[in-house]
Amino acid sequence: MALNDFDLVLFGGSGDLAMRKLLPAMYSRHVAGDLPPGARIICVGRHEWSTEDFLETVETTSKPHIKAPAELHYAEFIKRIMYVSLNATDVATYDALVAALRLDDSLTRIYYLATPPHLFSQICDNLSTTGLATPNSRVVLEKPLGRDLASARQINAEVGKVFAESQIYRIDHYLGKETVQNLLALRFGNILFEPLWRREWISDVQITIAEKIGVGNRMGYYDHSGALRDMLQNHLLQLLCIVAMEPPTSISPDAVRDAKLQVLRSLKKFTPTTLSQNIVRGQYRAGHVDGQPVPSYRDEPDAPERSSTETFVALKAEIDTWRWAGVPFYLRTGKRMADRLAEIVVRFKPIPHSIFNQPTSSFQPNSLVIRLQPDEGLSLNLMAKTPGDGMRLKQAELELDFREQFKTPRMDAYERLLLDVLRGQLTLFMRGDELEAAWEWIEPILDYWEQDDNNPTPYTSGTWGPAAASALIGRDGLQWREEV
Ligand code: BG6
Repeated sequence: MALNDFDLVLFGGSGDLAMRKLLPAMYSRHVAGDLPPGARIICVGRHEWSTEDFLETVETTSKPHIKAPAELHYAEFIKRIMYVSLNATDVATYDALVAALRLDDSLTRIYYLATPPHLFSQICDNLSTTGLATPNSRVVLEKPLGRDLASARQINAEVGKVFAESQIYRIDHYLGKETVQNLLALRFGNILFEPLWRREWISDVQITIAEKIGVGNRMGYYDHSGALRDMLQNHLLQLLCIVAMEPPTSISPDAVRDAKLQVLRSLKKFTPTTLSQNIVRGQYRAGHVDGQPVPSYRDEPDAPERSSTETFVALKAEIDTWRWAGVPFYLRTGKRMADRLAEIVVRFKPIPHSIFNQPTSSFQPNSLVIRLQPDEGLSLNLMAKTPGDGMRLKQAELELDFREQFKTPRMDAYERLLLDVLRGQLTLFMRGDELEAAWEWIEPILDYWEQDDNNPTPYTSGTWGPAAASALIGRDGLQWREEV
C-alpha cells in the first residue's frame, strides 16, 4: 500500500531512541522506496541547533546504527530531515514548529512522543492550543506508559482530551517483532494447533525474555522502573495475550485488541498470600557474562547505594477462563542473565499410556518452542524412533527457521511499527483500556513489594537468576527449559 505524504515530528528528536532506532528505521524505508518524495522528518529538541548542527549529530550518533549505509542514499535521506528547537513545555516556542509544518489537510501528520511520559500531557495540550492537533494527525506514545494504574489512567485521560483513541498509537516494540506476528499466523492460519490450544492438551506455558546486558547508562530511568514495569507489564504480558487470546474475528485493530483485553481481564488477581508463593524478584550482583567480569547492579554508574530495584522477575500467572483454567503461565525476565533469548514454550500433556517397552515417564511431552531472539523460528518437539534395530523412542525436533525459509529481508520491529503508523494501522498497538487492564493486574504486586519492604534476592550475573525462580516452577514439578 503506497504511503500518503507525511510530516513525521519526533519529539525527543535528538534522544537515544531517535538516534538508535527511529532514524535508522526511516532510513531503511527510504532506501526501500516506501517514502513519498515529499515526506519529511522533523526532529524536535531543546538544543538550540540549526538543521546543519543536528545533522552532524545524526552523522556521529545515528548513522553508526544504520545497517550498511550507502552514501548516495544517505545524502538523499538526510534532505528529508529538519531540526526545530523548541521547549516542549513552553507553548510560545511552538511557533517554530507551526512554521515548519506544511499546513495541508491532505497530508498525514504524526507526532511521535519519544519523551519522558510526564511531558505527554503538556505536549498534547500545546499541540491543541497551537492548532497543530488536526483530525488527520496521529500521536505515537513511547513507553513507559505510566508507572502504575493511576498514572496510566492520567496519561490516557490527558492525551484523550486532544486525540481520539483512533489517533493514538501506544507502542510496544515486541509486537513489531516478526515472530510475534508469526505466532498469530501459526495459531490462526493453521488448523493444526487450535483444537489443542487449551487446558485439555496444554500443561503449561513458559515465556522468557532474558538479556545479557546490564542497565548501562540508563540508571536514571531504570532504577525508578525495574524489571516488572520495564518488561513484564508490557512486553511479557503482550506475548501472553497473543498466546492466550481467543480467535479474533478478524485482524482488525478492535477485534485483536478486544481479544487481548479479555485475556488481561481474565488474569487471576494476586493476593498477598498468593504473591508470596508465586513471584520472585532479583537483582544482579557481580559475575561474568561471556567470560567478561561485570559489576554488581549497585556498582553501576549512578546506582543508589542500597537500591532495591529488581533487575529480574519471575512469576506464575493463571487465566480464569474455560480455555485456560488450571494452566500455569510462567513469565520470567532479567538482565545480566546467562544468555540473550526471548522465547515462548508451550508444553503439551504427557501421553496417557505407553505401548512400547519404555515407561510413560521416559516420553518427553511434546512441546512447541517459539523463538523470538536471537534467531527467529519454531521447533516442535516430538518423540521419534531411533534408527536401527529395536523400538526405542527419543525426542526429535521439527524445526522451522524463518531466516532459512523466507529469504526476504527482515524489518526491525520499529521499522514495521513506524510503517504501520504511517499507514494508519492500529492492530499492533495497545488500546487505552488494554494498558489500564495490564496495570490493574500488576498493581497488587507493586503494593506488595512496597508494603513488605521485601528486597530483591541477589543473583550472580551470567546465571539464570535467583535459585528461588527455579524453585517457583519446581514446586509444580517443572523446570525452565534452559535448566532441563
Ligand atoms: C525495552 C526495555 O523496552 O526493551 C529495555 O526498556 C530492554 O530495558 C529492551 O533492554 C529489550 O528489547 P529487545 O528488543 O532488545 O529484546
